[in-house]
Amino acid sequence: MKKIVLIGYMGSGKSTIGKILSEKIAIPAFDLDKIIEEKTKKTIPELFSEIGEVRFRKIEHETLRKFITEKDDYILSLGGGAPCYANNHEFLQLEGIVSVYLKASVKELMQRLENEKAGRPLLASLKETEIEEFIAKHLFDRSYFYHQAKHVIAVDGKKPDHIVSEIESLLT
Ligand code: S3P
Repeated sequence: MKKIVLIGYMGSGKSTIGKILSEKIAIPAFDLDKIIEEKTKKTIPELFSEIGEVRFRKIEHETLRKFITEKDDYILSLGGGAPCYANNHEFLQLEGIVSVYLKASVKELMQRLENEKAGRPLLASLKETEIEEFIAKHLFDRSYFYHQAKHVIAVDGKKPDHIVSEIESLLT
């Protein structure tokens, strides 16, 4: 039985890595944001604008709790904020769960997120000149929660296959 949870800031590659790992080790990959979108029949930006972040975080917590309680073999990628609210970081420490923080630097995240603001409500309204400071502060605030993962993998400059191999070596 393998339960793998991938966490990290927006743009750290959680979903991409989850998919490649899934093909390699033949365990299904899930994305918490997608599960929420299917359940509510709304996109994440719609949820933020229609019900607000606080209610989104409640749905996120409940969906995560249910998933982790009910599922067995999985790779689950969490939204960037998920470990930082409603004591969700405690799930990362549960016995049997391999939690991995995909750690990227502010510089790397800036490059990756530059052209991807649109689908991300927390970044969408920022000007180009504001993004670096926003990410730096946000990452600092979230760092404590991200480091509750059992494993930390630095991802800067690494190819996805390399990162996937590092995760595989944690599973043996
Ligand atoms: C968020 C990250 C997003 C999504 C939502 C909030 C965050 O997921 O859950 O927009 O608070 O960092 P990704 O990390 O998959 O972009």
